[in-house]
Amino acid sequence: MSEERALRLPPAYRLVELDSVVSSNEEAKRLAVEGADDGTLVWAKEQTGGKGRQGRVWSSPRGNLFLSVVLRPDCELKQAAQLGFAAALALGDAVGSVAPPLIEITYKWPNDVLANGRKLAGILLEAQGSAEGGVEWLVLGIGANVKSFPREEDLKATSLHFEGCASSVTEADLLESFARHFLSWVNTWLEEGFEPLRRAWMRHAEGKGEMIRVRLPRETLEGRFQDLDAGGHLLLDQGGGSPRAIAVGDVFFDRGED
Ligand code: BTN
Repeated sequence: MSEERALRLPPAYRLVELDSVVSSNEEAKRLAVEGADDGTLVWAKEQTGGKGRQGRVWSSPRGNLFLSVVLRPDCELKQAAQLGFAAALALGDAVGSVAPPLIEITYKWPNDVLANGRKLAGILLEAQGSAEGGVEWLVLGIGANVKSFPREEDLKATSLHFEGCASSVTEADLLESFARHFLSWVNTWLEEGFEPLRRAWMRHAEGKGEMIRVRLPRETLEGRFQDLDAGGHLLLDQGGGSPRAIAVGDVFFDRGED
């Protein structure tokens, strides 16, 4: 049974609620280009063309959470990617407040949120830089599997309900909690920089110290996942010399299952 109730969001947000949309990120980008304020939050009940990272499709049936926030941070474009970690941490906190403690949340670089080791949520960042090297707008899109998840085994996905969260918990509950925690992480980032986010993320990093493969656009690297650097890059220790800092890529764990 679907629940229709007014959403309770902190006043920093301006809610744009849509029943169905091709992609909330596309809608948020359109609004951003038209001048939408920082904090504009597009929430769609379903997406007919949800987009994942690296051009992938994001399965978007009703019952799951699809949202995109327009942000206008006063920072360099390369720093804006750190807000993806703020979103991942906020989602992890939100799951912690709506779901039982038996759901273990970990973070997979760059911005996936895993529940009991399987993908619960993904984050897609799209930005427009300004002529001065700053940020014109940033759209941070979040998809979280509340009710259902794609069953293809290679996606290693899951949903909140599958992991034992009460079926009375809805995408609206998760959104409300996320919105509060996200404001708090963004404030920490504004006041103290990336370091507290880096530490919190690393405490629950999936695969820290393990051998991993990182697929880049033109090559795949192997090495040990050593750390996150001060900018949010993954530090890959390939033996000998300083670790390689990676800004964009897909991580695979060498657990004999990828
Ligand atoms: C990923 O590949 O892990 C990122 C997935 C991001 C999906 C979300 S759903 C809301 C927003 N709208 C989109 O089209 N994509 C993002």
